[in-house]
Order: sequence, then C-alpha cells, then structure tokens
Amino acid sequence: MISGLHHYALEVPDLAVAEGFLQDFGLETGEKDGSLVAQCPGREQEQVRLVQAPAKRLHHVSFTVAPGMLDSLQDRLERAAAPVIEPPAGAPQDGLWIRDPDGTAVQLLDEAPSPARPVAEVLANVGATRQRIGVAQWRQAADDVMPRRLGHTLLFTPQPEQMTSFYTDVLGLRVSDRIHGLVTFLNAGPGDHHIFGFIASSHPGFHHASFEVPSIDAIAFGADRMRGQGRDAGWGLGRHTIGSNFFHYNPDPWGSWIEWFSDIDQIDDAWVAGEWEVPPHLWGAPPPEAFLSNLEPRR
Ligand SMILES: [Fe+2]
Repeated sequence: MISGLHHYALEVPDLAVAEGFLQDFGLETGEKDGSLVAQCPGREQEQVRLVQAPAKRLHHVSFTVAPGMLDSLQDRLERAAAPVIEPPAGAPQDGLWIRDPDGTAVQLLDEAPSPARPVAEVLANVGATRQRIGVAQWRQAADDVMPRRLGHTLLFTPQPEQMTSFYTDVLGLRVSDRIHGLVTFLNAGPGDHHIFGFIASSHPGFHHASFEVPSIDAIAFGADRMRGQGRDAGWGLGRHTIGSNFFHYNPDPWGSWIEWFSDIDQIDDAWVAGEWEVPPHLWGAPPPEAFLSNLEPRR
C-alpha cells in the first residue's frame, strides 16, 4: 500500500527562521500553494512544508501509495473507521486525506516518488575491499555532500501499539525492529530499513526527519557547515544500532531534530523484525539529554 514517505509538514511560528535553518541544513526552499516548501537539490519533489502558526507542531505527513491501490485502500480505511477528511488548512489539495489514531492528518498520494538525485559510486579501501586506486579521497570528498532525498521521519505517540496497528494493518507498512518499550521502526518493503516510526511519549509530536547524503564525509561536512553558520552542534557523528546508519542530528529552532544519514541497512521481504534492548547508538557520544524531549504543545 504505502510505497514511500513523500514529505512532512510542520506548523512553525516564523517562516523566515524556518527557511534559514533548512537552507543551512542543505535544502532548497521555495513557495508552493502559498506554503514554504523545501526540497533536496536535484530532486523534483518537495520534502518539507512549513505552515505559519503560533507554535511549532506537526501539521501532516504525506506518503505515496503503490500505483492503482488507492481505491482498495479506501475500502480498508472505511472498514477501519478511518474516514476520508478534507485537507487541513494550508495543506495541498491532492490525494486522499485521513487522520491516524493520534489525530494527525495523513495525505496518501497515488503517484510514484520522484527519483532521488543520482550520486556517484563511493569507492572504498576498507576491509579486504580495494576499489579506490590512484585517487586522493580528500580531493573529491566534498564534491557532493548535499541531501538527496528524505529518508524517514519519526513521531512521538502516546499509543505506539494502536499507531503501529493502523500503519501496518490498514496502510500496509511493516515493523522493521523495535527498541523495547521506546521506539518502533517501520518499512515499506524492500529498501531502507525504516521510512517511518514512533517514539513512545506522553502525547503526539514530531521528533525528527532524516535526509540521505552520499557519504559519511557528507554527514561530517554538513555538521561543519551548520557549526560554521553558528548553529548548535547537535548529536553525532555516530553509527546507529537499529538501521545501522551513520548519523548526525542538529536541533531545529523549535526543539525537534533534523538528521543526515548514510549507509542505512537495506532490507528485503525476508527481513524478520526483532525487539532489542540497546541504546540508539553503536558508537559515538550518547544522545544529549534533550534528545527525547517532546516540547510540542498538547493538542
Ligand atoms: Fe533517524
């Protein structure tokens, strides 16, 4: 059913602040349907929408649906008592709109995701692999360091079981892995280990969105760029446990997070979900204390 994450949308108190932050992060900004949108350089699809409002709050999430599946999805939604709604104010009009069990507006689009910006092969000399012969890596490592696609977003929820049932049984995502009692990661079939997920919390909210960059170097260049712009240092560099991706997070201006990732696990149909008791990082500094703070106002 759901084939991929299309974009996420936040209400924010100051669109100019949002625009500067997303540009420093490495996204291109523009205007669409009267909203501020941001997208990855070289990708013909918005990945973030920002709507002006008194406080930062999750506005909606948007997914692509496998071609031709929207009608049968509509039947399933009716059986699950998740009726179609009008698009919320400030949202795009297309697609099918519903509310998930937390009340978050969800857009379902009958279209294929735009291809991510093409990237070159990254040749490595690690382990027994010897691919990069006669090439000085430091002279090319900065050639392509910008985000190429939105990979995943994680939401806070007070009811991870109900949310997981809805997004799997009704919308067709699958559980990839869980960190016991804390995080649920969901996938849309073969590809990235997770495109969506939930962090247990007292109330709904937006935790972070994560963008793929072409290499671990690109993550570190991004972190340097943010520091150079006077942004807080954030959390990273590290390698995650669940999903195994290299990461660096920056706090956004409203108490949530934005991440660059590279080298995330790719799963296939044979993947078996596990339940783990592990910290989120395999190596690197532990997360800052505020990492799991849900500062979003209660609805
Ligand atoms: Fe992430």
